[in-house]
Amino acid sequence: MRSPRILAAGLTLVAGVTLIAACSGGGSSSSPVAPTGDPVLVEGQQIYSQNCSSCHGASGQGGYGKKLAGVVTEKYPNIDDQIAVITNGKGAMPSFSKKLSAEQITAVTRYTREVLGNN
Ligand code: HEC
Repeated sequence: MRSPRILAAGLTLVAGVTLIAACSGGGSSSSPVAPTGDPVLVEGQQIYSQNCSSCHGASGQGGYGKKLAGVVTEKYPNIDDQIAVITNGKGAMPSFSKKLSAEQITAVTRYTREVLGNN
């Protein structure tokens, strides 16, 4: 699963790991950390497949719900506007404010922008 989008996620991960290493007293062991990608995006993918794919399609291609892949970043240049649609709902799009935490909504929103968006 190596692709440019994973690279970007990997960079984020490296920053996080550096932080964790700093917090754990900076042990000298250099255990390799597999760049499995940004955990937030992994979480976002799970949330998407459980809550969104039935309407928006497994890869965001659209269905009952609108196409998301490749269009949301242009339509919502500011991620907060997209988060608002998912949090509050819009037309036939259900509100997720009771079903998902703010953190989960951010994770799934990032997934639609950073992973689906590059397919
Ligand atoms: C019951 C079906 C359904 C589910 C489940 C659903 N959506 Fe939607 N979604 C829609 C519909 C229908 C629209 C179009 C609403 C409108 O513009 O009137 C929409 C619109 C959107 C939009 C705005 C798209 C645009 O072009 O403006 C986003 C973003 C979105 N959904 C994300 C999600 C996410 C993320 C989830 C899962 C957490 C989700 N949706 C779950 C049906 C659904």
